[in-house]
Amino acid sequence: MENFTYYNPTKLHFGREVVSDLGQSAVQYGRKALLIYGKGSIKENGIYDQVVQQLKNHDIDFIEYSGIKSNPVVDDVDAAVEKARAFKADMVIAVGGGSVVDSGKAMALTIPSEQNAWDFYSKKAKPKQSLPLLTVLTLAATGTVMNPVAVLQNHETGQKLGLVNPLMYPAHSFLDPENTFTVNRKYTAYGIADLVAHSLEAYFGVGDASLSDKIVTSIIREAIDYGPPLLDNLKNYDLRAKIMYAATLALNGLTNNGRVSGDWGVHALGHEMSLLFDVPHGASLTIAYPAWLKFHKDRLNDRIAELGKELFDVDTADATIQEFERFFNKIETPIRLSDIDLNNKSNKDELLNSMNKNQAQGIHHKLTDEDRAELLRLMAD
Ligand code: NZQ
Ligand code: ZN
Repeated sequence: MENFTYYNPTKLHFGREVVSDLGQSAVQYGRKALLIYGKGSIKENGIYDQVVQQLKNHDIDFIEYSGIKSNPVVDDVDAAVEKARAFKADMVIAVGGGSVVDSGKAMALTIPSEQNAWDFYSKKAKPKQSLPLLTVLTLAATGTVMNPVAVLQNHETGQKLGLVNPLMYPAHSFLDPENTFTVNRKYTAYGIADLVAHSLEAYFGVGDASLSDKIVTSIIREAIDYGPPLLDNLKNYDLRAKIMYAATLALNGLTNNGRVSGDWGVHALGHEMSLLFDVPHGASLTIAYPAWLKFHKDRLNDRIAELGKELFDVDTADATIQEFERFFNKIETPIRLSDIDLNNKSNKDELLNSMNKNQAQGIHHKLTDEDRAELLRLMAD
């Protein structure tokens, strides 16, 4: 087992009506908030009204920035930062899925600085402080509400990058499973895929961490056991709660304890699809993962087979990969480029160029340009 430091300062409020604690939690940081959200789902399902009521009840003045895109872009972060600086915001409140929360993290880090957000992503500047961030999660997928990661796209530089900094742990995160009832079937499935992929990225990292492996397989089991029934019953509180909690644990640091780190090669490949073609994050992963497992099958044979034994009671790496594909088919997420109409020469050329330009690869399992060409072939086949 490797040495590790486990630090997670986020206060997690989980369960029915936990948003009723938002106001009293926020007021300890001041009386001026930047409230951010996406394209409007929170207005349709009433979450916006709940949040605004909380702020009013505690005399917290706020300005809004809305329209954050799925696969969020740095331009929105910089525009919101400018408004928040003029308003002298004391805190950021992000209400939405991973895209809104990640944007909120980047804003909270940038507002008290003299930088643009991308200066931190490009490593031109080092963050020194951050405003407190409170999040109200409306979609179970990324685990961002309890981790120090924020992923942004920059179409000028042609990159989708994650920034990791302990200043980006949210101060408070409010997770009411009922707030995910209105997430449609497709995005619910992408969220399930994402939490499985996060668990696998940890599992295929480096370091002998048997207990963390068991945590990984337990989290994936939750997805296998409760994901498909949830897709047939989108307003079932208990199923929503199980998936929401699993998604939180899949990327809050726990699965990496005792390892050097996870790998993250599949995410690097998936990010290129999202950057170029706006593929939803979870959908990019269920295309990239089977290809990645096939590509590494000889080198990681025993490790893949061991996982298959534990999860699906099968004996070989091939059978394990087949079971993952079967599961992704069951939850109706794409497993080939043709499933999302990208299996043509010009799209594939563009994708390969971008993957090579950005050197998409894992932390431990490195890839050459030839490897990426082969991976792309496996995503197409
Ligand atoms: O914009 P609105 O109207 O809110 O609609 C959103 C969006 O269209 C909708 N939605 C969210 N909650 C809803 C809802 N619709 C109805 N009812 C609700 N309650 O769902 C759509 C997708 O939202 P988005 O936030 O983009 O999804 P997700 O949570 O999957 O976040 C994806 C982003 O997170 C990044 C991804 O790369 C991607 O950019 N990730 C962040 C990570 C992290 N910070 O730790 C790790 C992940 O690996 C991932 O990379
Ligand atoms: Zn992910």
